[in-house]
Amino acid sequence: MSLQFEIRRNPNPRSDAERETILSNPGFGVHFTDHMSVASWTEADGWHDSAVVPYGPFMLDPAAAVLHYAQEIFEGMKAYRQADGTVALFRPDKNAERFQRSAARLALPQMDTADFISSVEAVVNADRAWVPDQPEQSLYLRPFMFASEAFLGVRPAKFVTYCCFASPAGAYFASGVRPISIWITTKYTRAAPGGTGAAKCGGNYAASLIAQQEAAEHGCDQVMFADGAERAWVEELGGMNVYLVTTDNELVTPELTGSILEGVTRDSILELAPDFGLTPVERRIGIQELTEAVAAGTVTEVFACGTAAVVTPIGTLKNEHGTFSVGSGETGETTAALRAALLDIQYGRTPDPQGWMHRIS
Ligand code: COI
Repeated sequence: MSLQFEIRRNPNPRSDAERETILSNPGFGVHFTDHMSVASWTEADGWHDSAVVPYGPFMLDPAAAVLHYAQEIFEGMKAYRQADGTVALFRPDKNAERFQRSAARLALPQMDTADFISSVEAVVNADRAWVPDQPEQSLYLRPFMFASEAFLGVRPAKFVTYCCFASPAGAYFASGVRPISIWITTKYTRAAPGGTGAAKCGGNYAASLIAQQEAAEHGCDQVMFADGAERAWVEELGGMNVYLVTTDNELVTPELTGSILEGVTRDSILELAPDFGLTPVERRIGIQELTEAVAAGTVTEVFACGTAAVVTPIGTLKNEHGTFSVGSGETGETTAALRAALLDIQYGRTPDPQGWMHRIS
């Protein structure tokens, strides 16, 4: 039976004026809307108690397994105000499927694609007024699931909590859509063969934080990780996939090895590439090969992509061997064109031949 997300209205929602003030400068991930969807899972009853409730804290037992063993997964997706005023999600089925793969890896219960999408739609419907109508802004959605059973044994939890909340969002990087700088770490890795690198689980992000600090110490905005086995191959950034544009008109991204997150934006860009005369290539990319190709000018553009980052140009790569300016260090033509094409689809400004947009009625 499918889950119903009946609304229990927030008795104290933000006033129109408060909401407008927030929407005039939402930042990223710092404001939250008035409602969230929730559901509980037990081994005995499966998913139940689903509803949309006022946004607010959880009551969590100090022994809840997630607090000790990090049995948790999440998704990142966005609702976009369309050119015609309606609201739509971008490829929510892809997020639902990745959530299922992450759940399998973290020994968490499965949630059907239809239930996952219903839970997201229910929050957006409850807080539709929070979907920004300004360019580059959207309503960021954070579905997640965690082990809420109180026990200290190391085994999959028998009680699990699901939630999806919403946060109005502008650009992910404080600098806006300016080219960012990347520190290539060889000290830290985020994933290992057989590990959780392909799952969207909190632990991967926790493990990336010290490397992000290392990047900041080197004056960089973001970190790039190499593979865990040889530390020789490009994997991904701290929460984003990475792409290169070559003088041969190839659009190259690291192949999915099981330790790279299968980004929805990454996948969409692979599909859009031929429209720009680019050959999409998924292959191993050597760290040394990358810096040498950037220095030689055979890689002309590098960019990051993800739901939060959309398409963010990379102007500089840095590691212990030097600093490498990508092209002129400014946003490349292909990066700008792919970014615009993706945003045009997401905001309903252009036809959607792939059927990627999912209208919320
Ligand atoms: C997203 O892009 O949605 C993510 O979950 C990554 C995080 C850096 C915000």
